[in-house]
Amino acid sequence: MKHYHESLNKKSRLTLDPLASQPDVSMLAPMEPERLRARIGDALRIQNDYYPCFDWTFPPPITQKVRGAVTPQQLFEHPSAVPGRYSIYLHVPFCQSLCKFCYYPVIPGQHDDEMDRYVNALVSEMQLYAPVMAGAECESIYLGGGTPTHLPPRLLAQLLEALQRHFRIARDAEITIESAPGTLPADKLALLKGLGVNRLSYGIQTLDEKLLAGLNRNYTVAGAKAELDNAVRILGNVNIDTMYGFEGEPKSALLDTLRAFIDLGVPCVSIYALDGQRCNSDRAKDVPAHDAQFDHKIHTYRAAREFLDVHGFRPVLQNIFLQPERASYRHQLRRWENLPLVALGMSSMGYAPRRLYQNQISLKVYYDKLSRGELPVMEWEDLTPQLEIMREVVSQLRFTEVNLKRIHDKYGVDVGQVYRDLITALVDLGYVEHRHGVLRLTDAAAHYNNIIPMLFAPDEFKEVIYGLPEEYRENFPLPFVLTQVGATQSRPFPMGKAETASC
Ligand SMILES: C[S@@+](CC[C@H](N)C(=O)[O-])C[C@H]1O[C@@H](n2cnc3c(N)ncnc32)[C@H](O)[C@@H]1O
Ligand code: SF4
Repeated sequence: MKHYHESLNKKSRLTLDPLASQPDVSMLAPMEPERLRARIGDALRIQNDYYPCFDWTFPPPITQKVRGAVTPQQLFEHPSAVPGRYSIYLHVPFCQSLCKFCYYPVIPGQHDDEMDRYVNALVSEMQLYAPVMAGAECESIYLGGGTPTHLPPRLLAQLLEALQRHFRIARDAEITIESAPGTLPADKLALLKGLGVNRLSYGIQTLDEKLLAGLNRNYTVAGAKAELDNAVRILGNVNIDTMYGFEGEPKSALLDTLRAFIDLGVPCVSIYALDGQRCNSDRAKDVPAHDAQFDHKIHTYRAAREFLDVHGFRPVLQNIFLQPERASYRHQLRRWENLPLVALGMSSMGYAPRRLYQNQISLKVYYDKLSRGELPVMEWEDLTPQLEIMREVVSQLRFTEVNLKRIHDKYGVDVGQVYRDLITALVDLGYVEHRHGVLRLTDAAAHYNNIIPMLFAPDEFKEVIYGLPEEYRENFPLPFVLTQVGATQSRPFPMGKAETASC
């Protein structure tokens, strides 16, 4: 059974220009380079309205998903773009309290029995995947949440030991755990290190006491700094999550926070613009469609990027910066190289070769499926070989840069030729830089950073979008822009390595 994904339906992700025309299927016919350039110029009167919007995926979440029972063997049936390697994401939904701004699927409070039950369910899920992954090596594990370090030491040990037992984990695997202040006493950190954890992601958001007081996060700045100081000394490879764009935020709040962390020796920082539309609190209902802080956020983001650059931090994703000799974030980088990702836990998202999938969002259904010995997958979406290649290209362009030679070596497809006119048009319009075979978005593309990379969607994928009922095109602005620009390929995809392998 096919169905459309409704939960990510957000009308307000773009500001729509009333002059934009209705989609016209004749636009999918190949066109002259000059016409393509004019159409892109026209369509880009439509901007994304939040910046930098980080919950962005390609292909966009409007495509048809498949629901039903699936075995791990069926899920992982296609050849991989990265043979013999994979990674694991494991979701732990428990948190001390529900932060006002957070939009992740979390269970706040102390629920000892539920935690036990959940960890046992995760172990059964690992058992289902173990035989299928036995021939390959796991190169990174990410325990995310929620707040995994909210689990008691006994359950953290059970989880990490089960991962070691069921999967072949590379000796140099990057093993990350997410944490929040107040959940990481020194003995827990030492235990985690002993269990193989070698990277910490610590969500601290801000050191501004006044802002903190309004976020429903229960800790003191001094306590958080002490935990963090300990983590930097013991693990070294530590990221902190910070946020900006809060109401009433002093102009210097983000830079002051970053400066304090640099003084503490933190080697990796993530900076998130507050996405007020999707937070869990009722307040989200009243958030207007257009982000009044858009320009303030762009300004704050650029100031932070420059500040971090001066201190030797380099971007690994648009909003994540690290000092290369002191920190790593392989897990996230490899995700955009189409490395398979085994998803464990409720609502987790995974990637089997040419197949995006998500686990059950309902905890009850997640447990029910596992108790029947079934994989708790809720839905999946198949990618064509072309779409898989372009997932890598489009995501890398959106998040940092894309090296076209590497793509050619990996997939046997010259993307520079397939999209020759599109690249020329974007360079002429000043939105993309093309140097030595590497494509990068320019600062002028900031208002369109969710849109421009999507123009590299294969034309056959755009046909799917044209075929959607009108209500879907209206409700999902990103695909609407694709229908405004029409065809963008200069020539068909040649038969690449991925396609040959599946024949
Ligand atoms: C899975 S969450 C957090 C991990 C940890 N539990 C914590 O307390 O931060 C990952 C990060 O997403 C960011 N985040 C959560 N909700 C957000 C929102 N509404 N807008 C922007 N960023 C958000 C926060 O920086 C958060 O640290
Ligand atoms: S920000 Fe972190 S601690 Fe707060 S509710 Fe979200 S996941 Fe939990």
